[in-house]
Amino acid sequence: MSVHPLIEKFQQAGQGQVFAHFHALPPAEQERLLAEAAEIDLAEIDRLTRTLLNPHATGGDYSQLVPAPYERRPENGGPAADWADAKAVGEAALRAGRVAAFTVAGGQGTRLGYDGPKGTFPVTPLKQKPLFRVFAEKILAAGRRYGRPVHWFIMTSHSNHAATEAFFQAHGHFGLDPARVHFFRQGRMPAVDYSGKIMLEQRGALALSPDGHGGSLRALERSGALDLMAREGIDTVSYFQVDNPLVRAIDPAFIGWHLRRGSEMSSKMVPKAYAAEKVGHFCQQDGRLVVVEYSDLPMAMQEEKDAAGALRYIAGSIAIHVLDREFIRRVARGGEGVALPFHRADKKIPTIDAAGQPVKPARANGVKFEMFVFDALPFARNPVVIETRRADDFSPVKNAEGLDSPQTCRDDQLRQFARWLRANGAAVETDATGLPRAAIEVSPLFGYDEDSFADAWARLQPKPAIADGLYLG
Ligand code: UTP
Repeated sequence: MSVHPLIEKFQQAGQGQVFAHFHALPPAEQERLLAEAAEIDLAEIDRLTRTLLNPHATGGDYSQLVPAPYERRPENGGPAADWADAKAVGEAALRAGRVAAFTVAGGQGTRLGYDGPKGTFPVTPLKQKPLFRVFAEKILAAGRRYGRPVHWFIMTSHSNHAATEAFFQAHGHFGLDPARVHFFRQGRMPAVDYSGKIMLEQRGALALSPDGHGGSLRALERSGALDLMAREGIDTVSYFQVDNPLVRAIDPAFIGWHLRRGSEMSSKMVPKAYAAEKVGHFCQQDGRLVVVEYSDLPMAMQEEKDAAGALRYIAGSIAIHVLDREFIRRVARGGEGVALPFHRADKKIPTIDAAGQPVKPARANGVKFEMFVFDALPFARNPVVIETRRADDFSPVKNAEGLDSPQTCRDDQLRQFARWLRANGAAVETDATGLPRAAIEVSPLFGYDEDSFADAWARLQPKPAIADGLYLG
């Protein structure tokens, strides 16, 4: 009996174990395994196992590293006139329909431990709106404000794609035009064990997982999303993560800074709250902008202070970017030294033993490979980093409890609503942290940032009392 050419290829690459149970599988499972195997770039896996699994690999060389410059907000001494101009430039781009929103929603959300796509997680204080609805309403409202409906691109994974689409269907796309909401899947990578062998999750299925948020650049290209953008006259992409309902999904000043500088990829920073805060750091290495993860930057450097006593490596990354469409294409296509590296993550990977029986490991038993979107920054022309206020842009839901949990995110939303109300003259009782005593909620359709809120509040007659259950919708 002749061996299937794909099986032969795997055998020659030392990955024959993938097909160890092949002949015992029913035909449909054989087909599936072959289809999954056909997705694998064996040369890439070989390269990654030789580099990333190598126990002698050394840590990064940070001798040339310096903190990255960034644009300070006006209240922290930044140039107010430039900020105002940036906002005007961003607004003009929005009125011209040049900007799309882009959400990466392909993660596995293991820390939250929620059953379902993370975007369907209920997050707002009163109405328990799911994350996707919060973003949808911000995008809808921004489209109305600037007179041009905004296209929204959503990256899913193989495992949550169908459920994500069904959720939008079931909720009428939250009032958005379905023709302007675009879903596409990200790529997958196989897990390998510590000897570099591709792992099986079942006898007829590879242990596959999403290829990281950096996979979004390839996926935008492969799915045809970039071509669609080009046809629609969109050249600027506002990138954010699915777990952060506070994000200014459409931020004219940020878009404007990006466009004024002719930047190919721009980022927001928040000043780190304390030296050991677990965020990536914006730095410069050989004149290029890079993000160095908290796990990689030596603690002594994280603790360094400048002459004024402030943290030297203060610029924390919060995973909010603006990208140029053709820059995405260039990085996605790779070549000429432009390619996102893979990172290794040691994980407990459900697998099977030699007899084909399921194994649920108690300890990490293998490695997953992921790309990170911020690794595109060193390839970008004129990248710009701007400061943002954490309270206005960042409160992610990562964990079920404690730091960055549904509770902290709910409180941060409440504080934001209270700030907006107070700034417009409403009497809101709060505690010392700014948390209002009353449970209130502002719909993004009423106001999604200070400006839109101020306009809507000015129009509202009569002004409501700030009391438990107040919903401004
Ligand atoms: P996280 O790094 O928080 O990972 O993703 P996660 O998979 O969602 O959660 P854990 O680590 O399993 O608890 C940050 C953002 O990047 C997206 C996530 O959906 C989230 O918006 N992401 C992450 C992807 O779209 N694809 C990936 O492969 C990984």
